[in-house]
Amino acid sequence: MSAASETISIESGFNRQNFPGDGLTPRDSLDPADWGHLRAQAHRMLDDILDYTEHIRERPVWQPIPQSARDQFRQSLPQKPASLAAAHHTFMRDILPYSVGNAHPGFMGWVHGGGTPVGMLAEMLAAGLNANLAGRDQVPLEVERQVVQWVREIFGFPATASGLLVAGSSIANFIGVLVARTAALGAGVRRQGVAAGKRLIAYTSAGAHGCIAQAIDLSGLGIDALRIVPMTARHQIDIQALEEAIAIDKRAGLAPFFIAGSAGTVDAGAIDNLTAIADIARREHLWFHVDGAYGALAMLAPDLAPRLAGIERADSIAFDFHKWGQVPYDAGFILVRDGTLHHDTFAARAAYLGREARAMAAGSPWPCDFGPDQSRGFRALKTWFTIKVYGAEKLGEVISGTCRLAQYLKQCVENEPSLELLAPVALNIVCFRYRSQNADDVNRNIVADLQESGIAAPSTTTVNGCLAIRAAIVNHRTNRGDIDALIQAVIAFGSARTNSQTSSQDNSELNSLESVYQS
Ligand SMILES: Cc1ncc(COP(=O)(O)O)c(C=O)c1O
Repeated sequence: MSAASETISIESGFNRQNFPGDGLTPRDSLDPADWGHLRAQAHRMLDDILDYTEHIRERPVWQPIPQSARDQFRQSLPQKPASLAAAHHTFMRDILPYSVGNAHPGFMGWVHGGGTPVGMLAEMLAAGLNANLAGRDQVPLEVERQVVQWVREIFGFPATASGLLVAGSSIANFIGVLVARTAALGAGVRRQGVAAGKRLIAYTSAGAHGCIAQAIDLSGLGIDALRIVPMTARHQIDIQALEEAIAIDKRAGLAPFFIAGSAGTVDAGAIDNLTAIADIARREHLWFHVDGAYGALAMLAPDLAPRLAGIERADSIAFDFHKWGQVPYDAGFILVRDGTLHHDTFAARAAYLGREARAMAAGSPWPCDFGPDQSRGFRALKTWFTIKVYGAEKLGEVISGTCRLAQYLKQCVENEPSLELLAPVALNIVCFRYRSQNADDVNRNIVADLQESGIAAPSTTTVNGCLAIRAAIVNHRTNRGDIDALIQAVIAFGSARTNSQTSSQDNSELNSLESVYQS
């Protein structure tokens, strides 16, 4: 070590005093004048949110929003202070009751995780620390590196693989496409742009999430560069059609470069044949990416993991801890097999982000070298707490449990003559409908009725041209009783709606739902 880089000590004290009323401190600080008062208020806020979670079953999943609640957030910029207690009161009265309700066991819409009290508390600690995980030498980065190592372990990736916590799978898939673009065109694409290179072509199935097309768009390739390959009856990518599409593009002089397989499609929860895709990608020298937004974490469940066979051969995997991982929003992740390529896709050496061998600017590379974000929150802490406190085994059991509930719901649908299953149930998503004339209209209304009743909150999608009631069971709090309540309510609303189509309005069925909800 040169003399200039040796650590030199001087005498120093850490007991800095506050100087009341002295210029800039502390009167101008945003810290409270009375910490005891703040502490009491903080405890009330903590109690309220813990009460919310403890008693969530007693609440409706969702409820229509009164205008008074919206009006609270249409005010002009406040110039003067308000008390924390008053803001807390507004939160309890106008925000908390009118969120989408995905913490509730009756929430089955879209693909939303339920969160946990452990994750919530970790988020509070992270906010208190206010760490910026762009980089620098700090243990919060070691926490993120620990999470990255756990992810490598989950997917059987080598120590040279890189990973990054991001907002969600949309951005994770985008990063996957950008790294694949570097693999195909070299890091020079960052300077020259895609127009200078070969015409790259990507492939995914008709069941893929829209963020794959968005990623291709944002990466400058143009959505026309994405081939939408048809699905089989099991909603998996049609492997033969994929091979044919690649062959056609090659014959046309285009440059196939990327296949995105799905581990859990958004509509039906189907898992593509990842081994077959891996084989094609190896043979054709294409990048093999997996969008495992929620399904990839099925690797934690020993009964489900074999169905993801082939994922361990991916070049990159996008997934979310905030879905099946139950980490509070947001906590997406991108894992890339070739960490150097990942680094070379994003790293830039700005003088103000200089790296050093010691002190705070040490510890390169930093997370900001692996993605488009510089400033980043401490998402790793709530993820670390969740995995550490519950353990991977327990999280895997929750994932298996939601799939068993989906099978139970499937059975209920199959046992009930007025209901019809619309797609195979591969994981935790069940698409079904109430049989009737004008079925799309009736089922669309049933879903709105369910949501407005507060009993259950599925969403809708379209399966083979039919509007489906889509229940995605992601939440660790959901149990058989919640499935029963959903089924009873669908039948009751369905029957009331179809009766009202044919006879005069009879609200007795709708009224009887009160008792379902109370039970
Ligand atoms: C299969 C799939 N891919 C991608 C996404 C997008 O993930 P995010 O909302 O975390 O950006 C979703 C969201 O539900 C999804 O289900």
